[in-house]
Amino acid sequence: MSSQTELQHKWSAANVRETFFNYFKSLDHRYVASSSVIPFDDRSLLFTNAGMNQYKPIFLGNVDPHSKFYSLKSAYNSQKCIRAGGKHNDLEDVGKDSYHHTFFEMLGNWSFGDYFKKEAIAYSWTLLTKVYMIPVDRLYVTYFEGDPKLNLEPDLETRDLWLSVGVLESHIIPGATKDNFWEMGEQGPCGPCSEIHYDRIGGRNAAHLVNKDDPDVLEVWNLVFMQFNRESNGKLMALPSKHIDTGMGFERLVSILQNVRSNYDTDIFKPIFEKIREITKVREYNGKFGPNDENGIDTAYRVIADHARTLVVALADGGIPNNEGAGYVLRRIQRRGIRYVHKYMNYPIETFFSQLAPTIIEQFKDVFPEVAKNPEHIYAILNEEEKAFAKTLDRGEKLFTQYALKAQESSDRMLNGTDVWRLYDTFGFPLDLTQLMASELQLNIDRTGFEKAKLQSYEASKRRKDNKEADQMKLNIHDISKLNDENILKTDDSFKYGSSDISGNILRLFNGTSFVDKIEKADTVYGVILDKTCFYAEQGGQIYDTGSITLDNKNTSFTVQNVQVYNGYVLHSGILNEGSLEVGDKVTLSYNELRRNAIKANHTATHVLNYALRSVLGNEVEQRGSLVSAEKLRFDFSNRKALSLDNIMKIEEICNGIIQREDDVYFKNISLEKAKQINSIRTVPGEDYPDPVRVVSVGQAIETLTSDSDGLTLPNPVELCGGTHVSNTLFIGKLILTEETSIAKGIRRISAVTGEAAVTAERSAIEFRDTLEYISKIKSFTEKQQKLKEAGVLVNKLEIGIVSKHKLKDQWELMNKEVKHALKLEAKKHYEEAKSIVEDYFKNNESATYLVTHIAMQASMKIVSELLNLFNNRKVDRSLFIIMGDAEKVVYGCYISESAKTKGVSGEILINKCNDLLKGKGGGRGNLYQGQGNTIGQAQKAVSSLNEIFQEGLMSK
Ligand code: ALA
Repeated sequence: MSSQTELQHKWSAANVRETFFNYFKSLDHRYVASSSVIPFDDRSLLFTNAGMNQYKPIFLGNVDPHSKFYSLKSAYNSQKCIRAGGKHNDLEDVGKDSYHHTFFEMLGNWSFGDYFKKEAIAYSWTLLTKVYMIPVDRLYVTYFEGDPKLNLEPDLETRDLWLSVGVLESHIIPGATKDNFWEMGEQGPCGPCSEIHYDRIGGRNAAHLVNKDDPDVLEVWNLVFMQFNRESNGKLMALPSKHIDTGMGFERLVSILQNVRSNYDTDIFKPIFEKIREITKVREYNGKFGPNDENGIDTAYRVIADHARTLVVALADGGIPNNEGAGYVLRRIQRRGIRYVHKYMNYPIETFFSQLAPTIIEQFKDVFPEVAKNPEHIYAILNEEEKAFAKTLDRGEKLFTQYALKAQESSDRMLNGTDVWRLYDTFGFPLDLTQLMASELQLNIDRTGFEKAKLQSYEASKRRKDNKEADQMKLNIHDISKLNDENILKTDDSFKYGSSDISGNILRLFNGTSFVDKIEKADTVYGVILDKTCFYAEQGGQIYDTGSITLDNKNTSFTVQNVQVYNGYVLHSGILNEGSLEVGDKVTLSYNELRRNAIKANHTATHVLNYALRSVLGNEVEQRGSLVSAEKLRFDFSNRKALSLDNIMKIEEICNGIIQREDDVYFKNISLEKAKQINSIRTVPGEDYPDPVRVVSVGQAIETLTSDSDGLTLPNPVELCGGTHVSNTLFIGKLILTEETSIAKGIRRISAVTGEAAVTAERSAIEFRDTLEYISKIKSFTEKQQKLKEAGVLVNKLEIGIVSKHKLKDQWELMNKEVKHALKLEAKKHYEEAKSIVEDYFKNNESATYLVTHIAMQASMKIVSELLNLFNNRKVDRSLFIIMGDAEKVVYGCYISESAKTKGVSGEILINKCNDLLKGKGGGRGNLYQGQGNTIGQAQKAVSSLNEIFQEGLMSK
């Protein structure tokens, strides 16, 4: 083999990728760009975990005819994949070994109902051995050995195909479902697969090491023979056609071709490591693992590089670290990374990841141009998250050290569950981070205790929410004058605009009726007044903050649930969870940042909305009130009539335009007089403004505003406001208007959601759209109508955007109209068919005096009645008994001719017989009888019994 430098040159990562692309291009495959790593329209996944994800509709036979995938026969690409959280989760292995990543590229080729096993096997073998020139004796392949539980036979065809292309027989290995039946997730397309493995060592038979987690014998390529769909009930259903789905680990392939023993020794990771070194000045990367890794620095290099790649790609695709689903996995990944930087690189936490990001963007920009589209967006989010965690990381680590000491002294080396919960709840340490820190010291975690503490905390907070005691705690006029009389200093709340925790001194404690010196009764509501605070007290329409007041050395924790200001005194009311507090204590104040972030986004969005309303409806629109909470925003304004759908769309468009423009938000205190000179500023009538007053401007620096005075233009959202705001509109994510109503004559109320809540609203709308799509495919019109009826009730309750709701309701109306029409046509057709059965019979049997018949069509009493009436109206001299139904429900009826009646055929007897056999109810008199039942099973028996009754009756006279 040539030297590694030569190989890195010959098989540079870029060249390896390009060779793959060219190979499949020459085989007439089409290039399809990688899909987003955040699967916005597939709720069954957190992240895109394989190249086939975007083709799921093709596999399921569900492709929209307008889609770019319609009539696609074969394709290739490199797909951005994240395997963290969910079914395919590699997070825990990252850093520890040489070949697992949370983010990786998957090279793949696909056939959609076109070629199958034979070609797929031949293509992969030729590429590996003839193009990449990998020696045949280093390669091993597996095939599915069958699974009686799944009712699946061994895939001997695949074994034989491998033999025929030249794989050594001793290198072909059967494998069980775990490795050789590939599934996308709990649900979705799946099928038997065949993997290709590579032995990094060579000169031996390594068959026994395949799929045994040996770092030197690793899976390179997986060929999946897609044939089934795993349904939500767990059953396998055959797909309409057979497809090929393959996935090759790009980083692994590069390491093989560059002849290095670790993916991290390739030119994919080298530049990232160099940048990490440049930023942190730590020693260089030595490529060591486990105990050989001096001070754990090599592992840290690997973890940080891996996590940074995942974050950059995910944020570029619209992911945001937060508290739920994929967002929470991203948060865990970044916090894990931050801690590695902090502990092993000894580098301050603030902007580390945004400094590393450009190197990664540079590497990806040619193959995934979307990653390089808006780097500032990525940096801003990385920094925001990093700063948020930096705030508590130090304190959390100090506490962890205390807890760890306690655990080291205990016989079971177990970290107390309540302590671990506190690290999560108060300091934002995800459980897996604490676990990682514990494992560094060979400590265990009391998981049962953790779960118990978690449950207790949730239950307590639910209880508190239900009885709202903290909300009721108020200072009355006497309490306030007492504080004034005692010369207690007013609270300095200027820290509310910052994001850090602060320490403050307790000045007064309140038990609901009087001021006390000490509070110590756990699970009790109290009020706390301090010399300063970073909490936002409810004012100007913005809801209060929640959070915690803690005293670490006494393990005291107080949950702040409501914050109000009384004559300059900020009262934090809430629950004392554990420990005690005394007047004079120096405590740490920390507001719930995630909740605050949502509030901030909603507050800035309110300004943006106000601006958009004025842009669309005219400058005379006056604000009449607003409410900004973590869940939504509400805005009341003067307007005579309801907003048209068109205007609602325009307003949303303007708002989202400003959000996408990623405008910075500026704040400044200026004199009231000067502020009033800013043309676009509208004061809320009746509101008392301080002087100097705070100006909040979206997208334009305050200084340039005051000098702008053409008096006509409405440049940007600018308002006088003491609330808290995002630093850039990108943090609003998206705005969706959810409600528009009247609250008084001439006053309208509009509500909106942003950020996560907007994503949820969008998802609910997509889900409902899917439901309609599902209903549209139902064959039976009656069932369709029933399902539509249920959907009609549901759509009114959905918490989704006004525009989506409108569209979905329109779609529903249309479908409902169509189904009604179809049902009418169907009924007509059934009537004609039923009629001709009867008419044909009598035509072909001219002497027949009666007919008993079962018409195997959907039961319709209307049709039966109409047919009987045809006879009855003309008093036809032939009798008719019809049983109609093709499922459970059955209807029946009878016309008895006068002559049959005279001969003694009794309608009563006939109908009662039918009632008995078909478990039904019915009756009648004169010539007509009818009834309905609930079992069709006995229909034939009923026909012969009724025939007998007729024959007996007619023959008896
Ligand atoms: N979808 C297959 C995999 O991810 C190729 O392994």
